[in-house]
Amino acid sequence: MKVAAVLLAAGQGIRMHSATPKVLHALCGKPMLWHALRAVKEVCTEKPVIVIGHGAQPVKAFFGEEAAFALQEPQLGTAHAALQAEALLKGKSDYVVVTYADMPLLRGETFQQLVDRQRSNPGPATMLTVMADDPRGFGRVLRAADGTVEAIIEEFVATPEQLQIRELNVGAYCFEAGWLWEALRQIQQNPKKGEYYLTDVVEIARRGKKAVQAVVHADLVETIGINNRVHLAEAEAAMRQRINRAHMLRGVSLADPASTYIEPEVTIGEDTLVQPNTHILGSTAIGRGSLIGPNTIVIDSTIGDGCTVLASVMQGAVLEDNVKIGPFARLRRGAHLAKHVHMGNFGEVKDSYLGPGVKVGHFSYIGNATIGENTNIGAGTITCNYDGEKKSPTEIGADVFIGSDTMLVAPVKVGDGARTGAGAVVTRDVPPDTLAVGMPARGIRKLTRKRKQD
Ligand code: UD1
Ligand code: CA
Repeated sequence: MKVAAVLLAAGQGIRMHSATPKVLHALCGKPMLWHALRAVKEVCTEKPVIVIGHGAQPVKAFFGEEAAFALQEPQLGTAHAALQAEALLKGKSDYVVVTYADMPLLRGETFQQLVDRQRSNPGPATMLTVMADDPRGFGRVLRAADGTVEAIIEEFVATPEQLQIRELNVGAYCFEAGWLWEALRQIQQNPKKGEYYLTDVVEIARRGKKAVQAVVHADLVETIGINNRVHLAEAEAAMRQRINRAHMLRGVSLADPASTYIEPEVTIGEDTLVQPNTHILGSTAIGRGSLIGPNTIVIDSTIGDGCTVLASVMQGAVLEDNVKIGPFARLRRGAHLAKHVHMGNFGEVKDSYLGPGVKVGHFSYIGNATIGENTNIGAGTITCNYDGEKKSPTEIGADVFIGSDTMLVAPVKVGDGARTGAGAVVTRDVPPDTLAVGMPARGIRKLTRKRKQD
């Protein structure tokens, strides 16, 4: 059985009052269309088709290979939009799921229910409805005596009695493919608005004495549609709750879900505790038994098991297991902290590898550097990696002690077991096991290393 899917995303979304196409407005960091696409992908066997029009270029650029695209130009209504997918899909599937890109909370399993019902429906169409006291401008669903759907009445043409109907058209349908393309061609322009309405397929089916069935959905939240920014905020809150709940059910503790912001592609291991006011975004992956937050932002980063990230910001960084950072650490792209690194307040690390057990206790900037195992970086240490034109590397060996306020003027190397004195300005390489002091720092004596007891 082949199932195709069409997402209607060509409308302007005037009510958003925005230069951004409506379907690219984000909830939990991803465009509403991304969420809708993910849900239909759970049921379709073919590449989904997105009907684009307003803002076609940015929409296409965002989704690229994720979908096929049909251009609707001009935008003459939802039936006209669906018809634009015909050229890509005709003869290619048994069923076509059609939905609106502004319904991002609908789940894959809900589309599956529609497809399953349509498979047993002798008629050509099954639609999703919901019973609600607040109609939110949705089309009203008129039922025939035999329980099948007789018509969908848009709000602006409904009679006062029809406006009282509580059953609403959610905007998700499953059609018999061959029938759909024929039916769409028969839809007439709406005399009031001049548009072709997809909802008129119901009357076409009835004229042909064919049954349209409805699956009544119990979850009102899933049927939140986005026509303005108030709806967008409601949908975002609902999506956030859904994501947070899934993490909690899989063994992650969230001290305060209401102030925890986790984007949909994030993974978090069991027994990790996320403290309030924390944002975990992008492609971040966090291991088990870590403590994240409060007041932390983690973007596109990897955090191992047993780490602590307190009141810190990290983006594009890697923490191996048992790393402790913060409060007020900042890790930028390419920061890689090996196991048991400790980084205290007001440190910044960019494009650097800190070996196992390295300590950067207080106010430091480490950029384009590699630091060997168990080295201690004193307070106020700076790698002077940029001379105004190019970035240069700093290499610090293992078991080094960098004295407070050392300036390491790159490119420069400090050998294993070396030390620098407080305030040293290191402009030349320091050999291993050497104490270097002053400005510019020079080696003054050879050192004997104290071996750590195991
Ligand atoms: C639509 C339904 C309504 C339903 C509601 C639920 C119709 C006629 N009405 O109304 O019964 O209760 O959704 O969400 O279908 N679009 C295009 N091309 C167009 C026009 C619209 O691609 O020419 C797209 C829009 O981008 C949007 C979707 O279709 O994603 C729905 O359009 P919208 O104008 O939001 O329809 P509603 O008034 O919400
Ligand atoms: Ca809508």
